[in-house]
Amino acid sequence: MEQDNNVFIFNHPLIQHKVTLLRDIETTSKDFRELTEELSMLMAYEVTRNLPLKEVDIETPICPTKAKKLADQKLSLVPILRAGLGMVSGMQKLLPHARVGHIGLYRDHDSHEPVEYYCKLPADISESEVILLDPMLATGGSAIAAVDFLKMRGAKNIRWVCIIASTYGIEVLHKEHPDVAIFCAAVDKVLNEDAYIVPGLGDAGDRLFGTK
Ligand code: PRP
Ligand code: URA
Repeated sequence: MEQDNNVFIFNHPLIQHKVTLLRDIETTSKDFRELTEELSMLMAYEVTRNLPLKEVDIETPICPTKAKKLADQKLSLVPILRAGLGMVSGMQKLLPHARVGHIGLYRDHDSHEPVEYYCKLPADISESEVILLDPMLATGGSAIAAVDFLKMRGAKNIRWVCIIASTYGIEVLHKEHPDVAIFCAAVDKVLNEDAYIVPGLGDAGDRLFGTK
């Protein structure tokens, strides 16, 4: 994994391979959903690398021993609707104890500004490590709005996990929220006039849910 200034880029061959399949226009919605789930599961492994552990007493079939388990740190997965939903099941496979909150945002087609339409978070979000999920970080507007909502509701430790980030999106998200670690599988340099990432993968929500 490449790391630079709180930005973590997954360069593992399996992840790179699956991102290429995800980008491909020939990939069906079914395969797109499965790849998003698999990528999320692979990314969960690194995103949680510094979760605290505690020592516990257990008994193996051979003898009693001390061993390590995740500490009782609360953990919340927060997908941004719609496309972030595609990342939840993969993360939950490795983090079954995580609670799930939802933030509904869409980009206005003309202004490209995020519009909030839903927000339901776990009650004690202020005591939780938060993993914010959305496959795309383009202009950064949705990510900044989501982090703003979370911080307004008391969240302190937030990690942003996406599949493709634009260079611009990373820059603006970190300008507003330098404390938020950004994890992504690929960084693309260009945004087009419709604020889509180039080459990107198109509209993640439409490809996940077959709406186009
Ligand atoms: C997409 C994507 C992000 C946002 C990224 O959602 O899932 O939430 O765009 O773009 P930004 O960085 O420029 O804000 P979209 O608004 O298309 O909504 P949808 O998931 O409902 O399709
Ligand atoms: N949202 C998407 O789904 N794709 C992009 O390229 C940009 C924003």
